[in-house]
Amino acid sequence: MTPPAMCYYSKLQGSGGKCRTCLVEVSKGSEKDPRPMPKLVASCRTTVMDGMEVKNITSEKVVDARKGVVEFLLLNHPLDCPVCDQAGECDLQNLSYEHGTEGTRYEFKRRTFEKEDIGPYISLHMTRCIMCFRCVFTADQLTQKREHGILERGDHATISTMLNKSLENEFIGNVIDVCPVGALTDKTFRFKNRVWFTKPVDAHRDCPTCNGKVRLWMRGEEVFRVTARKDQWGEVEDWICNDCRFHKKETKDWVIEGPSLIRRSSVISQGHYAGNVGTAPTPILIDKVIGKKPKLTLDIHTVSDVNRPDVHLSEIEGPAHSDDFKKNK
Ligand code: SF4
Ligand code: FES
Repeated sequence: MTPPAMCYYSKLQGSGGKCRTCLVEVSKGSEKDPRPMPKLVASCRTTVMDGMEVKNITSEKVVDARKGVVEFLLLNHPLDCPVCDQAGECDLQNLSYEHGTEGTRYEFKRRTFEKEDIGPYISLHMTRCIMCFRCVFTADQLTQKREHGILERGDHATISTMLNKSLENEFIGNVIDVCPVGALTDKTFRFKNRVWFTKPVDAHRDCPTCNGKVRLWMRGEEVFRVTARKDQWGEVEDWICNDCRFHKKETKDWVIEGPSLIRRSSVISQGHYAGNVGTAPTPILIDKVIGKKPKLTLDIHTVSDVNRPDVHLSEIEGPAHSDDFKKNK
């Protein structure tokens, strides 16, 4: 099981070391020097050594520290998931469910920012930003010149409005895909649909600017959104250009390859009952490590006898009904 990461992005040079969500305990430094590291360390910024032993969720200290990090990240983050376009694919939402606590001890007013118009395609909702720097690195490394960055410090830190200049770059749309929260969203998709109602499909086209391999988010025949494909770590596989992302919104623009593989645990896999959508690699079982099965993957038949164990939900076409579980079926 990999530690969660909110700022590290393997494809962006210099990323990592900002959010502290990836803290781990190094219980043995290396074969040469087996002393444990005195403090928890950010795994994205720690060099692996021969013989190093690292504790992730098996360490109480790590679990406790992560709760604190989530609480910090949520200090200023609005709880507007019901109206946020990122809901359902938000790293912070997932992190809070998996590692957070139910409440906060924060009593002050959350910081807020005035809305800024940064062009026709990308919406910046600074109030939701967690200052991970990913968008800054993306613009810096994918575009010809750096046009935006973080201004001010501490509570006043903000993504600069110069972003609207770099919007002219044909790869700038990728900042939407790297943003772990709903601070940068696609204006052409905004408020049009909830992501779990759409069906992700892999498709490609012959694009003169990028390699044209994308993911279409469809409902029926309609293409609601185009994004880059993401790998098992939730990172973009190949950067895509603005033309593919914002202007090719018809099925005739694309050669459809087939349904995208979506993690079983993701809310996006809900509603996909047949075919291979929703199948995902079995999570790496931690039962060998902690000696019991993780709660997240428990088999419903071991705790409930409501459904017949020989009826597999994944094989039922469409939503399940009581008829599907009748004895004589
Ligand atoms: S806008 Fe998004 S990607 Fe950019 S720093 Fe804020 S959270 Fe990170
Ligand atoms: S992912 Fe390591 S510090 Fe943010």
